Amino acid sequence: MRITTAEIKHGDCLDVLREYADNTFDLIVTSPPYADRRKHTYGGVPPEKYVDWFLPRSEQFLRVLKPTGTFILNIKEKAENGERHTFVIELILALRRQGWLWTEEFIWHKKNCYPGKWPNRFRDAWERCLQFNKTRRFKMRQEAVMVPMGDWKETRMKSLGKNDVIRFNSQVGSGFGKNIANWLYREMAYPTNVLHLATECSNKRHSAAFPEALPEWFIKLFTDEGDWVLDPFVGSGTTCAVALRLGRNSVGIELVREYVELARQSIEPATATLFETPTNHAPDQR
Ligand SMILES: C[S@@+](CC[C@H](N)C(=O)[O-])C[C@H]1O[C@@H](n2cnc3c(N)ncnc32)[C@H](O)[C@@H]1O
Repeated sequence: MRITTAEIKHGDCLDVLREYADNTFDLIVTSPPYADRRKHTYGGVPPEKYVDWFLPRSEQFLRVLKPTGTFILNIKEKAENGERHTFVIELILALRRQGWLWTEEFIWHKKNCYPGKWPNRFRDAWERCLQFNKTRRFKMRQEAVMVPMGDWKETRMKSLGKNDVIRFNSQVGSGFGKNIANWLYREMAYPTNVLHLATECSNKRHSAAFPEALPEWFIKLFTDEGDWVLDPFVGSGTTCAVALRLGRNSVGIELVREYVELARQSIEPATATLFETPTNHAPDQR
């Protein structure tokens, strides 16, 4: 039996991460400031300068992530002067040049998004969750996020045609194929890369807090109990609170003193919880 820890550090993640040894963390899951979208609450970086601001920090993320680890970056570009800004696209390309593999893009569909009106576009109801890795052999626990088969089981699976019971190759030459019958009699299926999660969150004292289900999904998918999770822009501490609840160790870093206190409060109720987990080594501090 061991105690799972969560620690909230105050400072710029660029400086704080220099205290940590190479290859320390199994998962980095974070939502940095989205350029200058919240400049009145916790500041921001102009979109034109975003890549230059981000790269020294992601260089540290690359160093402290284990070769089997994953980096999930939740971000969304805003529209300005009638166009979507390109800084996220530029950031993806720059991260690839820095040595990251851009493995996947998950879409977080904010399913409770309320209606709005703009003259030339509809309301944003999704954000990117970009997945980056150091190597192609990263840890992934797909069974941990399986979902019920749902309506499919009662409808589509009850009326299989002749092309459903064999491997049926795509008719448009895409090279893809499927065998629907493989999923007969199963209760659970693998999810897609679209996460349908409500934005609601219990923490109203931070303007951009994650819904707990978001870090929870990635923590279950990319870590085991006793592993180490990092959120370098931890805000109100959601990632660390969830990591602790799931029996993972975590470190959160936050620049704004007020949010550091908030994050520490969010992990307090769970800090002393005991988990029966395998003993993984605590991160070496330099
Ligand atoms: C989008 S919010 C994160 C919210 C968080 N996911 C939550 O659930 O509360 C980004 C946070 O990063 C913090 N921040 C901005 N620059 C930072 C830096 N260089 N190092 C650490 N934290 C920073 C901001 O103060 C803000 O609280």
